Amino acid sequence: FSSSRIRNFSIIAHIDHGKSTLADRLLESTATVASRDMTNQLLDNMDLERERGITIKLQAARVLYRSREDNEMYVLNLIDTPGHVDFSYEVSRSLAACEGALLVVDASQGIEAQTLANVYLALENSLEIIPILNKIDLPAADPDRVTEEIKDTIGLDCSNIVRASAKSGIGIDDILESIVKYVPPPKPDTGGPFRALIFDSLYDPYRGVIVFMRVMDGAVKRGDPIRFLNSRAEHDVVEVGIMNPNQVPVDCLRAGEVGYLCASIRDVLDARVGDTIVLSSEYKAAAKLLDPDSKEEPITPLPGYQVAVPMVFCGIFPVDADQYENLRDALGKMRLNDAAITYEPETSGAMGFGFRCGFLGLLHMDVVRERLEREYDLDLIVTAPTVVYKVEKGEGEKKTVEIVDTPSKMPEIMRDMKVFEPYVKVEILTPSEYNGQVIELGQERRGILIDIKYLTPTRSTIVYEIPLAEVITDFFDQLKSRTKGYASMEYQLIEYRPGNLVRLDVKINYEDAPPLATIVHVDAAQTVGRRLVESLKELIPRQMFKVPIQACIGVKVIASAVISPMMKDVLAKCYGGDISRKKKLLKKQAKGKKRMKLMGKVNVPQEAFMAVIKLD
Ligand code: GTP
Repeated sequence: FSSSRIRNFSIIAHIDHGKSTLADRLLESTATVASRDMTNQLLDNMDLERERGITIKLQAARVLYRSREDNEMYVLNLIDTPGHVDFSYEVSRSLAACEGALLVVDASQGIEAQTLANVYLALENSLEIIPILNKIDLPAADPDRVTEEIKDTIGLDCSNIVRASAKSGIGIDDILESIVKYVPPPKPDTGGPFRALIFDSLYDPYRGVIVFMRVMDGAVKRGDPIRFLNSRAEHDVVEVGIMNPNQVPVDCLRAGEVGYLCASIRDVLDARVGDTIVLSSEYKAAAKLLDPDSKEEPITPLPGYQVAVPMVFCGIFPVDADQYENLRDALGKMRLNDAAITYEPETSGAMGFGFRCGFLGLLHMDVVRERLEREYDLDLIVTAPTVVYKVEKGEGEKKTVEIVDTPSKMPEIMRDMKVFEPYVKVEILTPSEYNGQVIELGQERRGILIDIKYLTPTRSTIVYEIPLAEVITDFFDQLKSRTKGYASMEYQLIEYRPGNLVRLDVKINYEDAPPLATIVHVDAAQTVGRRLVESLKELIPRQMFKVPIQACIGVKVIASAVISPMMKDVLAKCYGGDISRKKKLLKKQAKGKKRMKLMGKVNVPQEAFMAVIKLD
């Protein structure tokens, strides 16, 4: 196929607006996948994804389509993008592999926060955007209103907006025609050296890393030695192919095409999303032409590469010390597929051996934890997520910067010390009647109000700058509950700013419980301390003895509570009486024991570790 007959596109949408359903329908209607082979949502291939109905890992599929207009065959490459903010870097790279994007908007809901965030990413990548109104089969659909909204808020030309229902198959042909008509073909081959952009990778135990890429210039074939510009890794290509959507080997991939390659790569760190692949031979030839002292890359990397940095950290410990090795192996296997996970061993008196793990965001953390437990059958205790702080000490020449990703490691406040914390820009979309509630929440969370805009007479965007630490608590849940579920949000890291922060320690039975320590703003310390001890009092089961719980800053106790001992007659319930009831109680006890760690002679359950992020 000449590149004039290729169209590379993505589908962008807010969660649940129907992206996956539409992708399925496009594959089905072009007979790429026979209907009977169609498991729902073919592109989301992880079980967990399917269950949660969210796209985490992106994949691609190639579709052949005969255009009604000129009766010619076209190759349409659909590149799926993850739908969640944690993965916005991956979204951006997968969009960079395309020339156009279908913007799917639910005709009953209208524009949401992720619709906008994705549109910005698409515009940054100079994509042609084709608006699609989905779910027009719903009685609540209001296509005229939503069309106006898209025109007014995004400023898109909506003259050729497609009205569709991915579910009932309305408008699918029109969408395919629009792709051929409006998505520009890839730029013709420049004749320059081979360059390809990695937009995803996958670890296969037999073939090693499978790299999904868009070829920008030149061509690559089996046997070619290749080089990854950023990781500097070199490998020999074992196979190149296309996604049909199953992998089908081909002889060669050329400029404009989307495909995969395998090269016996053992580590995903060699082939990270956003890196540029070149041919070793062309690289060497170009290097010879450069000044030997030159720092310049002989072949210019494709723009936009960055390392995805973890922003949220937590401790992960096996309940049972015997499972430590299994946990290590499991993390190793997960990392093979996901270069964005970091982990290093962490040991603590109370928790035993485990790992300090870093993630892109809360959802990323949640998904990894769930997969560890489910796919590797591990029982885990996970400590509350925290952000990474920077602690500056000294002045001028003697200045040192320490990175703190564990609250209990935050040094005691001293005079010439400054603590910095990450801030994010949060963009919230809400029906305007809830503006007040959203602003109230923003203020409670140390937010700085940046902007309020009416998108339409009834919908607003509210922009805040907020410490990330405040967002990774129950911010999203609070936002949802205060707006009756109608608001949506996106956030993005902006910078580190100094904060008046202190470490809040927790003592159980007068013993330090470092995994429960947290970092708070001085002004909130009192309130957080009080709520935390109250909440722990509820979450930690009663013992045979009195258990004092204290929140302290340094040596000063700022709040305390006491768990009163179990009374005899509570115990008595276990004796006598109905045998099945007794069994039930025993079983409940056994189950409860599972996720606990001993601190201050008290078994502390999993929920207590998360108490600090749910204090309202
Ligand atoms: P993420 O993968 O989380 O980004 O979601 P998504 O945008 O891929 O949404 P998905 O395709 O999973 O659809 C969300 C829900 O909307 C599912 O329950 C679909 O069955 C439903 N849905 C999708 N398209 C239509 C449509 O045209 N009409 C109706 N009535 N429902 C639809």
